Amino acid sequence: MIKALICLVFGFAATVLVSFLGAYHTAHPAIQPGVDTPEEYKRTIRELISSHVKGENIIANLRAITTEPHVAGTEANRRVADTIANIWRTNQLEHVHFAEYDVLLSYPDYNNPNTAEIVDSDGQISYISEGVSKVILPEEQGAPGAGVRWVAYASNGTVQGDLVYCHQGTEQDFEYLSQQGVSVQGRIAVLRYGGGFRGNKVKNAALNGAVGAILYSDPADVARAGIDDSHVYPATEWMPSTGAQRGSIMVGDGDPLTPVYPSKNYTYRARTVQQAKDELIIPSIPVLPMSYGDVQNLLSQMGGRRVPTTWQGGLKNLTYRLGPGFVNRDLQVRIHVRSTLQRRTIRNVIGYIRGNQEPDRYVILGNHFDAWVYGSVDPNSGTAVLAEVGRALTAVINETGWRPSRTIIFCAWDAEEFGLIGSTEWVQEHADLLARRAVVYLNVDSIFGNASMYATAVPSMYKAATDAAKNIPNPMASERQANRTTVYDTWVRSFPGKFKSRPDAPDMPVPSGGSDHATFINYLGIPVIDFEYRNYTNYDTYPLYHTLYETHTLNEKILDTNNFAVHVAVGQYWAELARMFADSPILPINVSDYAKAIADVYLPDLRDALRQAQPQSELKIAFDQLNFVEKAAARLVQAAGEFEPSIDEAMEFFEMNPFDQRQISAVNERLVAADRCFVNPRGLPGNPTARHVLFAISKHDAYSGKVMPGVYDQLDDLRDAKTKAERQTAIQRLAQQISIVQYSIECAINNLADII
Ligand SMILES: *[C@@H]1O[C@H](CO)[C@@H](O)[C@H](O)[C@H]1NC(C)=O
Ligand SMILES: *[C@@H]1O[C@H](CO)[C@@H](O)[C@H](O)[C@H]1NC(C)=O
Ligand SMILES: *[C@@H]1O[C@H](CO)[C@@H](O)[C@H](O)[C@H]1NC(C)=O
Ligand SMILES: *[C@@H]1O[C@H](CO)[C@@H](O)[C@H](O)[C@H]1NC(C)=O
Ligand SMILES: *[C@@H]1O[C@H](CO)[C@@H](O)[C@H](O)[C@H]1NC(C)=O
Ligand SMILES: *[C@@H]1O[C@H](CO)[C@@H](O)[C@H](O)[C@H]1NC(C)=O
Ligand SMILES: *[C@@H]1O[C@H](CO)[C@@H](O)[C@H](O)[C@H]1NC(C)=O
Ligand SMILES: *[C@@H]1O[C@H](CO)[C@@H](O)[C@H](O)[C@H]1NC(C)=O
Repeated sequence: MIKALICLVFGFAATVLVSFLGAYHTAHPAIQPGVDTPEEYKRTIRELISSHVKGENIIANLRAITTEPHVAGTEANRRVADTIANIWRTNQLEHVHFAEYDVLLSYPDYNNPNTAEIVDSDGQISYISEGVSKVILPEEQGAPGAGVRWVAYASNGTVQGDLVYCHQGTEQDFEYLSQQGVSVQGRIAVLRYGGGFRGNKVKNAALNGAVGAILYSDPADVARAGIDDSHVYPATEWMPSTGAQRGSIMVGDGDPLTPVYPSKNYTYRARTVQQAKDELIIPSIPVLPMSYGDVQNLLSQMGGRRVPTTWQGGLKNLTYRLGPGFVNRDLQVRIHVRSTLQRRTIRNVIGYIRGNQEPDRYVILGNHFDAWVYGSVDPNSGTAVLAEVGRALTAVINETGWRPSRTIIFCAWDAEEFGLIGSTEWVQEHADLLARRAVVYLNVDSIFGNASMYATAVPSMYKAATDAAKNIPNPMASERQANRTTVYDTWVRSFPGKFKSRPDAPDMPVPSGGSDHATFINYLGIPVIDFEYRNYTNYDTYPLYHTLYETHTLNEKILDTNNFAVHVAVGQYWAELARMFADSPILPINVSDYAKAIADVYLPDLRDALRQAQPQSELKIAFDQLNFVEKAAARLVQAAGEFEPSIDEAMEFFEMNPFDQRQISAVNERLVAADRCFVNPRGLPGNPTARHVLFAISKHDAYSGKVMPGVYDQLDDLRDAKTKAERQTAIQRLAQQISIVQYSIECAINNLADII
């Protein structure tokens, strides 16, 4: 069908265009649509691009990028950066180059893996944990040291003590322990993965006095079908007993030594390692990850009270107990962590497709390429697809003479795994220009399931994200058989929308801190969509996340078995979003949706929260501010509605006067500026890089996004206030934060008006 269309297009190449297509004609000299509307032309280009995204190329890219473990800052990862740059150059991306930074990273001792031991009071050791995961596919996983288990930025050292089972290590979990009279002071916290970012778990444990921590994945989360061989990898996608999740436990974004500024050689290192530890950005305690096979040997000996039913895990024949310590009080646990902090060079790979009408307006596509081990899912499923998106776009440019109006920038980020470092440093380096020139940032981290598309996005993106998905064929035969013919059909069924103003949009939560889009939105107010293909599951992520077993067999033989149909669909969707933002005369940014999200969702939620806050008698000033801001939000909804006709007028004018872009440019500038109005240059109190007034990374869990962070942080402070004076301070600050939200809304209203 696609082939027929291409013939049709070339068959009519000589067709004369009517005048209102003039702009398209200029932009696209070699391809002249026989079909004679811009809509048809758009569809032609879209389908051509889609037809060029090939599963076999993505597989080849993936294999080329995942031949060896490639942790950021290593020679192996330099080679991967070179491989990516070579693929991009072969694919004819322009000006492919590296953007380098020297940043603080962390490494284990690969010759001397971290371990946990059981020791008695005479120093006799009765058990030593495996420090290394077992190689299951030697031809893919056999590199020396690949199986070593570690977490980045753990403190170097040896500690000994009683264990305390702290469930997921949330603030609530530690509160529960303290209510039960179980303290982690001077002890070793056992922290179960799931329910939040591991760095926050470790931070909570350290704040409660733990001297060390063990992170582990429980079979109830990662081996739900059972732990025997037939139910785990390599037979299935579930974690085998020897798997362990690696990761970073730094709580912060970017190089910890150069806050706010890029880590160039000229940059003064304004924060020392010791200061980073004092500020709890880097932990001061040794931490190691363990497999459930290993941790069973520790948990099965624990004494103390039984855990509440929601804390019980899936290890068989085992009653989980809080501790502290073992039934046999003569035994304790000792952990050895060998780690170093090192400043090393990282390299982002950057490439371009230059726009032919507005080359200084940027549509940015990004994915990171550094991995904990081989990284075939996280992140190189995305890396392999991004390279193919570039190839598909340049192929259509080469074949047809079409070229997008705006510039598309391709970014392969380094050191994301350590704390979004590569993307953050680049954004910090180019902050001013990006704030003025970037139109949108489109992120893919990983493709880790085949059940459904899933995205987080700012509300102005809901429409574009939804519309694009309606044009992408469903990659799963089973879904097509159920008449769900597009990616959209499955997505909206899996994650039904909650936003009344756009009932056809799937649910798209607030952007989180889990990947490289975070700095773009939170620091600069650049609208973002972050998307992936995944399973419908409550668990944070996929079972083999950050394990040795993320090698290409997992993608090819387990997760996406039909010639990479799912990877292809993600590539088609990414390319289509890029096309929409880079080539639509009017940017597909919907300010009405933004306004309505504030007026119909965020502020009503805040009113509910204020109604529940105590003491109501002291909250009058906060309610007064809320009344103000609600009226402002209603005015923003109205202003956005009244702006719509100017969008249509600008488009009509452009169709009649295709060589005069002034009107559409003016409209586009305002659509882009809507988000910038919500950037407060001062940042949140105490956090100069959390500048978006509506969205931030949660203080309590760096994986999750948070709405109106400044406001809700003050509500937290009010809840925790002990004295009347503390309460009053919190309420005053709460009122001020609400008025700052209004300040941004007033900016957004003025932004849509010709005169202020
Ligand atoms: C910093 O300077 C060193 C020594 O000249 C060099 O090796 C390194 O690549 C430079 N780093 C950056 C980010 O430019
Ligand atoms: C659990 O206990 C049963 C009966 O004692 C035993 O047959 C089984 O092997 C045990 N399972 C595990 C995983 O230890
Ligand atoms: C780590 O600690 C050990 C002692 O526990 C010490 O011998 C070693 O030098 C330390 N390594 C680093 C990099 O600080
Ligand atoms: C560009 O297109 C021509 C045919 O139109 C083809 O021969 C050539 O291989 C293409 N180049 C690339 C890099 O796709
Ligand atoms: C799919 O649609 C066709 C045509 O509308 C209909 O005949 C068929 O029953 C539908 N199948 C399912 C599974 O709904
Ligand atoms: C993913 O979904 C499939 C069914 O679509 C199911 O068999 C599998 O167990 C799920 N995996 C996870 C990790 O939830
Ligand atoms: C989809 O993923 C599940 C695991 O979640 C796997 O069992 C199944 O084979 C996959 N299907 C395809 C077509 O890739
Ligand atoms: C924004 O969404 C509203 C509501 O669906 C719609 O009426 C309007 O045309 C959209 N505007 C743009 C510019 O897409």
